[in-house]
Amino acid sequence: MTAGDSVAGRIAAWPGSHTAWHRAQASLAGGVSTGLRASMPPHPLFFHHGAGSRLWDVDGNDYLDYVLGWGPVIVGHSHPAVVAAVGEQLRRGQTFGSGHVLEYEVAERLCARIPGAGRVLWSNTGSEAVQVALRLARAHTGRRRYVKFEGHYHGWTDPMLVSYRNLAEDGRPVLGSAGQHPGVLADVSVLPFNDSAAVAELLSQPGSDIAAVLVEPVLCNTGVLPPAPGFLEELRAACDRSGAVLVFDEVITGLRIAAGGAAERYAVTPDLTVLAKALAGGFSLSAVTGRTDIIEQVTSGVVHAGTYNGNPIALAAAAATLDLLSGPDVYPHLEAVSAQLAAGLRTTFARHGVTADVHHVGPVLQVSPGITEVRTARDVLAADWAFYNELIVEALRRGLFLLPGGRWYLSTEHSAADVAQTVAAMDDALAELGRAGRLPVPVAEI
Ligand SMILES: Cc1ncc(COP(=O)(O)O)c(C=O)c1O
Repeated sequence: MTAGDSVAGRIAAWPGSHTAWHRAQASLAGGVSTGLRASMPPHPLFFHHGAGSRLWDVDGNDYLDYVLGWGPVIVGHSHPAVVAAVGEQLRRGQTFGSGHVLEYEVAERLCARIPGAGRVLWSNTGSEAVQVALRLARAHTGRRRYVKFEGHYHGWTDPMLVSYRNLAEDGRPVLGSAGQHPGVLADVSVLPFNDSAAVAELLSQPGSDIAAVLVEPVLCNTGVLPPAPGFLEELRAACDRSGAVLVFDEVITGLRIAAGGAAERYAVTPDLTVLAKALAGGFSLSAVTGRTDIIEQVTSGVVHAGTYNGNPIALAAAAATLDLLSGPDVYPHLEAVSAQLAAGLRTTFARHGVTADVHHVGPVLQVSPGITEVRTARDVLAADWAFYNELIVEALRRGLFLLPGGRWYLSTEHSAADVAQTVAAMDDALAELGRAGRLPVPVAEI
């Protein structure tokens, strides 16, 4: 089958992926490289190659890709400009363990682009960049504790994997993993997102000892929930009053929902910004940018290390990605295809009598089935994910590769025609579930 063929369910099974997954289980825990991937229904797929907005699996099926590597592939798979830049750097060396031109050239471009960026620290993943941001904040303030919000994900490290998926009724911080150090719970206060009064009250308490407030400025990891009007401004003001360091975790939003990320889109400048995913168009690269006085502490006592920090291959990819994300049409295009998709999905769900909240912030879109209007992380966690998992398998059969959990990513390579094909495929998937009597009862009829 080639791109653009009929959307009717054309894939009955995935024998090649199934065999690969079983073989992988003998050498990889769960047959995957990161635990979450094991939850992809009906089982993890194994891919052979990608190009632009499409992926091809080992069985030869092609898909429109809305997973995008869980976010990094913002300029599409194997964009020729990224491939050329990486190929040229590969011929010149892989890593030097010392300075090279791309390190500061790309840093200069981030300083010009990201609000509040006076310095850049390079690292490799979002999790480690968040970790150094927290260390910098503690060193800067001489304080120990930090604030995060319910449903926000800042990586898998001990301090950060708290109250992400499992939330306590009374808002107490909850560990996210077996084996995690329980001592982290004493250092963190978890507050509801968009509750600026709770933040202001906590930060004003004498002895609250808050070094940092970490926030996904758009809560992408649980519902793509935008900040309430004034919320980010009030975080900024509360941090200014108390001296706490405001950290925007823009691992998803950075370079994606605007050239300068959420800080630009919502016109609030944090003290530190964490970037990753879209930064290097699919290569492993992360960064902390922000206030010079805070970041320069790495030259006077704060340890920030990493064999691969400032890796030239990743930076070559980042330079090419930044070029591609600098055209005047980039963000209007991302916004337009995402709005087209949201409108198409809303119409399709309504046509089949399925209740779902569909909304997007730039090219990050969220479907929350079984809910008329999502307001909080708790609403999102209570959505009808059993139905959605059935839906995404039917979508997969019709050539759409979707994440569990309702989030969709669009790239610069997704076209209006791709979106039209996607909406038609979703319509067919819903019709199939309807014929099988597997559509949920609309909320109004319960
Ligand atoms: C907002 C946010 N912060 C941090 C991370 C951790 O990044 P990484 O998976 O590169 O460690 C993620 C990953 O999805 C994320 O979405």
